[in-house]
Amino acid sequence: MNNAKGSVTLCMGKDTSGDKTALVKQFNQANPGITAKLLEFSTSADEQRASFVQRQEAKSGECDVFYSDVIWTAEFASQKWLYDMTPYLESKKSELIPATLKTVDYAGKLWGVPQQTDSAFLYYRDDQVQTPPTTWQQVYDVAKQNDGIVYQGAPYEGLTCDYLELAFAAGGKVLSDDGKKSAINSPQNLKALQFMVDGVKSGDAPKAVTTYMEEESRRSFESGKPAFMRNWSYAYALGNAKGSKVAKKFKVAPFPTFEGGTSAAVLGGHNLVVSSFSKNPKGAVTLIDYLTSPETEKVNAAEFSITPTLSETYSDPEVQKAMPFADALKKNVEAAHARPVSPVYPQISQAIYKNVNAALAGQTSPQDALKKADSQINSALATF
Ligand code: GLC
Repeated sequence: MNNAKGSVTLCMGKDTSGDKTALVKQFNQANPGITAKLLEFSTSADEQRASFVQRQEAKSGECDVFYSDVIWTAEFASQKWLYDMTPYLESKKSELIPATLKTVDYAGKLWGVPQQTDSAFLYYRDDQVQTPPTTWQQVYDVAKQNDGIVYQGAPYEGLTCDYLELAFAAGGKVLSDDGKKSAINSPQNLKALQFMVDGVKSGDAPKAVTTYMEEESRRSFESGKPAFMRNWSYAYALGNAKGSKVAKKFKVAPFPTFEGGTSAAVLGGHNLVVSSFSKNPKGAVTLIDYLTSPETEKVNAAEFSITPTLSETYSDPEVQKAMPFADALKKNVEAAHARPVSPVYPQISQAIYKNVNAALAGQTSPQDALKKADSQINSALATF
């Protein structure tokens, strides 16, 4: 390989599935000349970003590789915090799902290596609901009779995803087509928000969802109460593991349509990026090679139901067996909507999730929530 030596640290959010811990251990066994370490941050996407930003602002070399959320590329690259990975990706580009490659693309260069992509599914208890309903409105009607639906309603990035899935399906947008102005305060987005607010008010979604992130939703679903859950693919393997009361009692399906609209999923996922302040960029690349190899992607999918970024992994027989929904998942990823690409994306998202959360919690009306989000998004856009 490239004769890398020394040590290299991978920084990421909490290793909920346990895949990174296992991989780092295997990497160290396979590469005696180099030692990889894992540094875990919070489960919250926003807190992870804060931990990364803090280190990069201090020009710290603590983290060589970051497990970077797809929405951070524009900000991190424009701050000059990342190595340009365009040459590295030249020979690998054709194997990656094009949508994942777009998430590392900013200002004409590629700033990371897609390691895991994501598009959420509707989880449903197939012992209670035989076939998943075809509209969101019906999902909530069925949820009413079957102990509800859980999702990510806490004020953080996850809520932006959950809200935008409904808003996009209702025909809404975040920004104007030229990206210069907010388009959040629209009748379509209001319909989606009103729908979510009504869901909490009526109890179809428990009030507690206003405090849930991915892990709280997963634990709630695994406790056996709710009939439905919105979550990413990682929850599939864990939901079927020991300790889950719903093991083998649920299935997953692509999202239904929003009445009068379409169906929409938001593109999630993480890229491996090399910090400009790394003291061991060679080591960083050696670790990235390992973490993005076809073998790793296969194990991640088959054992941990982590969504692959490599096209070929989906058709692997072991992956097909472990993830019977693999083909649908690939289609979902290919069709998923990206969140806005902007160096001020974090502020745009905050404007969305804080106001949407306030409406869900009954602290403000859906109309006022969108008005406020609109002016905050326009203020964020005016800063660059
Ligand atoms: C998942 C997605 C990521 C998203 C986050 C929100 O980790 O992969 O893109 O921002 O959830 O909570």
